[in-house]
Amino acid sequence: MKPIPVAILGATGSVGQRFLALLDNHPMFKVVALAASDRSEGKPYGQACRWILADPMPAWASEMTLLPAEPQALQAARIVFSALPAEQAKTLEPEFARAGFAVCSNASSYRRESDVPLLLPEVNADHIQLVRAQRLARGWQGCILTNPNCTSTGLTVALKALDQAFGLKRAFVVSLQALSGAGYPGVSSLDILDNVIPNIGGEEEKVEWEPRKMLGQLENDAIRLAEVRFSAHTNRVAVVDGHTVCVSVELGQEATPEQACRALSSYQAPAAARNLPSTPDPVIVVRDETDRPQPRLDRLTGGGMTTVVGRVRPDPLLHLKFVVLSHNTIRGAAGGSIYNAELLVRENLL
Ligand SMILES: NC(=O)c1ccc[n+]([C@@H]2O[C@H](COP(=O)([O-])OP(=O)(O)OC[C@H]3O[C@@H](n4cnc5c(N)ncnc54)[C@H](OP(=O)(O)O)[C@@H]3O)[C@@H](O)[C@H]2O)c1
Repeated sequence: MKPIPVAILGATGSVGQRFLALLDNHPMFKVVALAASDRSEGKPYGQACRWILADPMPAWASEMTLLPAEPQALQAARIVFSALPAEQAKTLEPEFARAGFAVCSNASSYRRESDVPLLLPEVNADHIQLVRAQRLARGWQGCILTNPNCTSTGLTVALKALDQAFGLKRAFVVSLQALSGAGYPGVSSLDILDNVIPNIGGEEEKVEWEPRKMLGQLENDAIRLAEVRFSAHTNRVAVVDGHTVCVSVELGQEATPEQACRALSSYQAPAAARNLPSTPDPVIVVRDETDRPQPRLDRLTGGGMTTVVGRVRPDPLLHLKFVVLSHNTIRGAAGGSIYNAELLVRENLL
């Protein structure tokens, strides 16, 4: 297959850098353009970007000139991966979709729109069909696909496996979120060292709503939200990458921890989302040590695409409790968007 040309919006940021790293030698996509704000526009990427990943910047990227985030400037691309702040995404992403680009977005701006898929292919690959309704309703040649906020990501994958096996009624969740989730330069060191910040603006509302859309059913070109009730506390902690979520659940039918572990570790992506370059393999790893998962040790499981669950045990208030870990800038952001784009191509919706 001839590689599909793609561009990255917000290429210099925390998520943008992950896009570059994950698209280096990607079998389906080739990066032909990089864009950032007018602070960086016109500069070589290697000069404008403060590279923060441990792996080196791909050699092809350093001399690429940063372009403005406008459709006319990125005509060489067919898909744009958006790592824009939500405010900018709100105005820019529809301009790209109208101009015929498929926009795979990390921003929260369009996640709640009824005709915009909010996708985790290993959970709700069928929701991508909303793109057809979106194109009809908006008269766009292109489209917008979104992935959820990085805390809902691993949480929803684990909940999907339990919901499918036992049903799901309520979830009480407490997050411990990494610093890279706040972008670059993000939270000041004097705020976060020796500290936990017990509020991340807007995050609790996202975690209490986004899983309901992803666990919901596609019916007549709309999503019927799952009837699951959530309560979330979200916290920023001094971890570089990897969001940990402590979860208590009430199931539709009671299950032992052993039954839950079997349901989690045997969970498979829907057929349409299997065997793509970014398909997590396995989708979920269940650890049986008493002190795992841990971000430093487990975040790169399955290349950062696998959801890691541990400490599955009875909950004295609800039914079960457990811990979920997911890499926030890989599965929770850039890797997730790339997986969405791969599914879009496979479904002939590009
Ligand atoms: N970090 C995560 O774990 C994570 C996870 C899921 C979703 N998200 C979402 O992904 C998006 C990007 O997050 P991030 O953490 O990568 O943020 P970030 O590190 O602050 O990067 C923001 C990027 O957007 C560019 N930008 C800013 N204003 C712009 C404008 N007016 N026009 C064009 N480009 C502009 C910046 O370019 P300059 O360098 O030129 O300023 C930079 O490349 C956000 O919507 C965020 O909520 C993040």
